[in-house]
Amino acid sequence: MMEEYRFNKQDYDRRTAWFREARFGLFLHWGLYAIPARGEWVRSNERMPEEEYMPFFREFSASRFDPKAWAREAKNAGMKYAVLTAKHHDGFCLFDSKYTDFKATNTPAGRDLVREFLDAFRAEGLRVGLYYSLLDWHHPDYPHCSDSCHPMRGNENYPDEGRDFARYREYLYRQVEELVTNYGKLDIMWFDFSYGKMSGEMWGAERLVNMVRSHQPDVIIDNRLEASGEGHGSLYYGDPKPWHGDFECPEQIIPPEGVTDVNGDPMVWECCLTMNGSWGYNAADHYFKPASMLIRKLVECVSKGGNMLLNVGPDGTGAFPDRSVEILREIGDWMKKNSASIYGCGSAPDLPKPDYGRITAAGAALAAGAASGEKKYFFHVFDNTVGPLPLIGISRESIVRIRALSDGHEIPHGADLWGTQNYPDIAFCDLGPDPVLPDPVDYVIEVTVKA
Ligand code: GLC
Repeated sequence: MMEEYRFNKQDYDRRTAWFREARFGLFLHWGLYAIPARGEWVRSNERMPEEEYMPFFREFSASRFDPKAWAREAKNAGMKYAVLTAKHHDGFCLFDSKYTDFKATNTPAGRDLVREFLDAFRAEGLRVGLYYSLLDWHHPDYPHCSDSCHPMRGNENYPDEGRDFARYREYLYRQVEELVTNYGKLDIMWFDFSYGKMSGEMWGAERLVNMVRSHQPDVIIDNRLEASGEGHGSLYYGDPKPWHGDFECPEQIIPPEGVTDVNGDPMVWECCLTMNGSWGYNAADHYFKPASMLIRKLVECVSKGGNMLLNVGPDGTGAFPDRSVEILREIGDWMKKNSASIYGCGSAPDLPKPDYGRITAAGAALAAGAASGEKKYFFHVFDNTVGPLPLIGISRESIVRIRALSDGHEIPHGADLWGTQNYPDIAFCDLGPDPVLPDPVDYVIEVTVKA
């Protein structure tokens, strides 16, 4: 009998603090599927028998894999952490596991790629996480015919008699144990995912989480031991199970109103999303979101109190797609000037969303501000106004100073701005005579007010 689980809010707040500060991370989906290059679900989508997948295992050479270059791009883009697929649903391991032969060390690559990833990203000062798939389409004890996701689902030639799920559960446990004991400090364990009865204790979740935390007391864990890209974990319902996640992880959608639990309290969350439409490298998917859009979506996440985990799917050789690099660099250019409106920032529940953009509030500055008697908001202007820019919710008397975040120059404000006299309850500032914003993507105005 395990000890009864008790949720410790203090401990929770402490371990998630860096994550709430960081706001922006890199998701990396990489594995054998990058060679067929039709996404990481290729085996399942095409109901591909394993024999047809094995050539990619014999071919995987990681010839252009340069984790230091990956880490530099991530850092330059302003990302604070990265999460790599140590094992995806296909069961292939990028790490040197002693419990399987289906691993990078047995491919022409011949190396432990997880270790190289961790070393490189840590060297750039980034936090590191590992994604581990709960599903496994390689393991003989994972259900085949009767499973709803397996490539051999519904195929009578792959019956499930004799498959021993307890044995798979032990395999999963042992592999995760390798990850949390052989690779130094991990900041995130990102499990993926639960579906139907494949959830919670089916994965042996309590024992698993206890083991993970015994080795990595500060690691934060996603909520997919009991949820998926949709649905909530038990923390949301106010009834945390021992394996409840530390954060909700909405996938390919930014929650319209952020995420609050059943009691209305804000939750820690991270929206993961792809740059194009695919996680794993997809050579035919050219539908990339422009950097301008991704910058605004990052701001949207932060303005709703969440993080953004933006994905890159390196190709079969290990190189980032050119388009992904361009996008990361463009985001980096904006972040270099404006990251103070992202890191440590969150929602501004006391102010309405302006029709020209969004607001993020400086969290750390808020706490510091309490002492100095000031607080800070960032007004993100996506779309210029005609005439002075209204700062609805801010009273004229409370304004201490207004600056352009990118270069710190003073933005005038005051009662005498033309056209504003009909709106005495609204503070305005003046962005100058040019109707075209200095930053057409998101021009950030830093507004400091008396607390
Ligand atoms: C999904 C998919 C998976 C992807 C993940 C990212 O659950 O199964 O391919 O890795 O989401 O969030």
